[in-house]
Amino acid sequence: MSSATSQTPQREAFGSRNVFILSAIGSAVGLGNIWRFPYVAYEGGGGAFLIPYLCALLTAGIPLLFFDYAIGHRFRGSAPLAFRRLHRRAEPLGWWQVLICVVIAAYYAVIIAWAGMYTWFSAQLTWGPGNENDFFFTDFLQMADVAEAGLSTAFVPQVGIPLAVVWVVVIVIMGLGVKRGIGRANMILMPLLTVMFAILVVQSLFLPGALDGLNAFFTPNWEALADPAVWASAYGHIFFSLSVAFGIMVTYASYLKRKTDLTGSGLVVAFANSGFEILAGIGVFAALGFMAQAQGTEVSGVASSGIGLAFIAFPTIVSQATGGSIIGVLFFGALVFAGVTSLISILEVIVAALQDKLGWGRIRTTLIVSIPLAVISMALFSTTTALAVLDTTDAFVNAFGIMAVALVAVIVVAWLLRRLPALREHLNRRSSFGVGRFWMLLVGALAPLVLGYLFVSELISKLSEPYGGYPSWFLGVFGWGMVIALVILAVLLSLLPWGGRSHAKDDPDYDAFLASEHYDADPETTATPVVGGEQRGAGA
Ligand code: PHE
Repeated sequence: MSSATSQTPQREAFGSRNVFILSAIGSAVGLGNIWRFPYVAYEGGGGAFLIPYLCALLTAGIPLLFFDYAIGHRFRGSAPLAFRRLHRRAEPLGWWQVLICVVIAAYYAVIIAWAGMYTWFSAQLTWGPGNENDFFFTDFLQMADVAEAGLSTAFVPQVGIPLAVVWVVVIVIMGLGVKRGIGRANMILMPLLTVMFAILVVQSLFLPGALDGLNAFFTPNWEALADPAVWASAYGHIFFSLSVAFGIMVTYASYLKRKTDLTGSGLVVAFANSGFEILAGIGVFAALGFMAQAQGTEVSGVASSGIGLAFIAFPTIVSQATGGSIIGVLFFGALVFAGVTSLISILEVIVAALQDKLGWGRIRTTLIVSIPLAVISMALFSTTTALAVLDTTDAFVNAFGIMAVALVAVIVVAWLLRRLPALREHLNRRSSFGVGRFWMLLVGALAPLVLGYLFVSELISKLSEPYGGYPSWFLGVFGWGMVIALVILAVLLSLLPWGGRSHAKDDPDYDAFLASEHYDADPETTATPVVGGEQRGAGA
């Protein structure tokens, strides 16, 4: 047993499995579901896209979700600690995920701030009809061209002030901790989000032209299935949408009770996320059908995704529809809520990692992590060149951050360390249904193949022409430089010693867990080996 003199604080935990499930759904349901999925599906063959989508969900999304849960729950730590307990040399993988989260958090917050302002603008109908495009780029963002002006330091207050508010709100939530902060925020925001979204979808369905939109969305284009790019986009979307490989699910699963049904929870999360996505597709395309009819064009002429969909197409719909203000408030309000629940999940990856590494308390870690991050986020993303920085960091961190770390993680865990059998055994201990050898095949073989394919095709496309037409110094810093720096920093962070009363050094909670499960102590991290423990199902 562990030394009784230990003062290591007990690891935080979610109040119940349901709170965990709701928080995991809160993380998964984000901008990806609302503004990305509808267009990805529409472009990838409409109704026919359901086939690659479901394949990607069942063969990669859910298996990798289980993989993350298994690591987090078995090793009961933030991403770096969990990977370190898996194998000492695997710690940089965890830091790589933490750093990816740092980058994403910095720009994700500003999109929430925009959406917050647009909730208000929608109520007032601030933009004039026909002026939505100019309003967004010129009046609101005051956008300047990086190619001409270089990186600007001009502060845009209507972005910077709401951004500061977003940071204050999330810092308070984070400071309150896992149970009282994150758990409770999700318990409040997720039901609200669901109700708002349901009203929005029903209201959109009653707009004139809604059926045309739904037809465009659902009409299957079977030929798309022959296109490998469509399959790749389905897999790429699923990884992002389920928040796998961000370290989020590892961290959240580490806050689960010892005895938990992992696979059952994972299925609930995955299907809730997909349900939300499909609902978003219906709502968004019903509204686009209305927009096309009002402008006398085809749905294909108005369909878009991302920033264009949210901040130009939707404002246009708000101007043109009767009751447009309500649609706008519901839509942008939903973006804010969905965004906040995702933002706190990525911040938790960072806070938990530093708490584990340095042995600091919750509030201290939250402040030391979040305040500098908030300052960087405001410095980069409330200036007139923010959009170019956001666009570039987002594209690069997705392709060469998330996708790359997922690829490396499955290769390391499955092939170098051969730990899939042990993880599978852990998943199967308490779960309502077990995963078979087939799971190992999906995670160990199919996932690396698909991820490898996606990674190489991203590499080719980003090397063959400058992304977004931005100048090369700019792509060098915010694109390539940033993604390479993350890897180097990850290795450096893993070399720092575990300090203070760190969970890595002495963790009675973890020792008790190992003992109750009859697991051997992990060689590198636990103070006292558990006597008589027997490693079950360890691979190789
Ligand atoms: N699944 C999230 C989404 O759809 C991905 C994400 C999670 C992004 C957390 C950022 C932060 O938006």
